[in-house]
Amino acid sequence: MSEPGKTKFQIDLRHYLRETEEDRDLTRVICEMADASKYIVNSIRTGDLGVAGTSNLYGEQQLALDVLSDRIIRKRMLHSGVIANLASEETSEIIPMDPECEEKYSVAYDPLDGSSLVDVNLAVGTIVSIYKGPNLMQPGRNQVAAMYILYGPRTTLVLSTGKGVHEFSMNQLMEYTLTRENVRMESSGKIYSPGGQRNLYTPGTENFVRFMEEKGAKLRYSGGFVPDINQILMKGKGIFLYPHLQNAPQGKLRLLYELNPMAFLVEQAGGAASTGRQRILDIEPKRIDDCAPVFIGCRNDVAKAEEYLRSEKAPMAAVGKA
Ligand code: AHG
Ligand code: MN
Ligand code: MN
Repeated sequence: MSEPGKTKFQIDLRHYLRETEEDRDLTRVICEMADASKYIVNSIRTGDLGVAGTSNLYGEQQLALDVLSDRIIRKRMLHSGVIANLASEETSEIIPMDPECEEKYSVAYDPLDGSSLVDVNLAVGTIVSIYKGPNLMQPGRNQVAAMYILYGPRTTLVLSTGKGVHEFSMNQLMEYTLTRENVRMESSGKIYSPGGQRNLYTPGTENFVRFMEEKGAKLRYSGGFVPDINQILMKGKGIFLYPHLQNAPQGKLRLLYELNPMAFLVEQAGGAASTGRQRILDIEPKRIDDCAPVFIGCRNDVAKAEEYLRSEKAPMAAVGKA
């Protein structure tokens, strides 16, 4: 898409959303998140790397950067005036803003995924899931939009409102301009990105990983979910997994804050996302902090993982608390 006098690579996020006729309030949510990320990127570059002295609902120690990023986003969402309910990976409950309003949006977000990687200067990200109306406890297929912001050597924002996946990059004026339109994934690929300790994998997962290795796949794993998914999406090939483990039947990653938004984006690019037994976007959440195993990326590779897992004798519960 381009407008008179501008090449498509100069189109900024707000213009793009106007041209694609997105709802005004949804545009507001997305642009507020984009604005929040400018403050988060600044905190990452220069902020305190220490602990906050508190823990989140998963019992993990919070870093000062987690707490700060969360506050930056919450404040923006509150002031936007278009939010019904808000949920953050870093807080233990849904924050009601206008909790009955069907016209407003509800947002689940992970303010700074991978924050423990900042002290070794690896890439991290913000992940966002958006629903129309007040209900956050519904299957991910009902999301109206999902996005992430990747704080790497460059800062990029990857978005879908259900019309394909588009990448915007932060320029020197700290504006997001369109850099890739309609990102598409191939049906299979030779990258694998395996999370979790391999000696705790169940036989089905182990056999699947061997299958990937035997087909010559390259290992690409940074320990940050956002950069690891971004690599697969932007290269258009590969699979990321954080499977069920022998001591963690639900894996580690969180359905509302991490899996649903990434599954929405990857499916929009022609890929797939599964627990190994069920499509991620069809899971009915039971609790706000539900976790699930995940195999996400090229659709044929995800189907292959499902095939290997079907041969596992004792099926594990598909979703629940880690
Ligand atoms: P968070 O920083 O929000 O707690 O989550 C980090 C996630 C994700 O980025 C990554 O894929 C995974 O945790 C890695 O976890 P482990 O290193 O514990 O296996
Ligand atoms: Mn996270
Ligand atoms: Mn987090």
